[in-house]
Amino acid sequence: MSKQKIAVLVSGSGSNLQALIDAVNAGSIKGQIAIVISDSLDAYALQRAEKQVIPTICIDKKACKAEGEFDALLMNSLAAVKPDLIILAGFLSILPCELVAEYKGKIINIHPSLIPAFCGKGFYGEKVHRAAIEYGVKVSGATVHYVDENTDTGPIILQKTVEVSEDDTPATLAKKILPMEHSLLVKAAELYCDGRLELDGRKVRIL
Ligand code: GAR
Repeated sequence: MSKQKIAVLVSGSGSNLQALIDAVNAGSIKGQIAIVISDSLDAYALQRAEKQVIPTICIDKKACKAEGEFDALLMNSLAAVKPDLIILAGFLSILPCELVAEYKGKIINIHPSLIPAFCGKGFYGEKVHRAAIEYGVKVSGATVHYVDENTDTGPIILQKTVEVSEDDTPATLAKKILPMEHSLLVKAAELYCDGRLELDGRKVRIL
């Protein structure tokens, strides 16, 4: 199987991107990161990519004033690369429906909870962990899923759980879950690039 062309979309620190970079460099992900796209000028993820001489594009969402401007720039940036796989690695913008339709079955996202809990619009970063703690759950975790036209509702590829203890804070829970996210996202990318994911309705089979 030839190397898959991967686009990674980011908004923040990029620790998930770093895990992907390391796995590509180690050869476990049979792909190449062709582009890293950020929606924020100060995403540290951009520096991580530049250090590896991976091409980057920053589409500063705050500077996109016209309706549809950000979405059009994002679509054009991806069209120039024609990725086989798009990975949302802490990307906090909602993808336009046309993009999701065009790349159906080729977009995956990492989310820091056990979907369908604590997900959807407004649930990102530490807000997810705060909501889980306030609800009083005994376990939380991470989910990698395919992206569909709604937020965090696509078919689940992989999940992993972690115990929530009484003295956990959003920060300590995030710290427990983040390394789990890295390994899950890398595993999902490996499976995808090896052609081992089969999508059947809402079910994802690992071949
Ligand atoms: C990660 O915890 C990721 O799961 C979360 O943002 C963080 C990005 O960290 N994404 C979401 O909450 C999406 N709804 P990173 O920039 O260090 O990879």
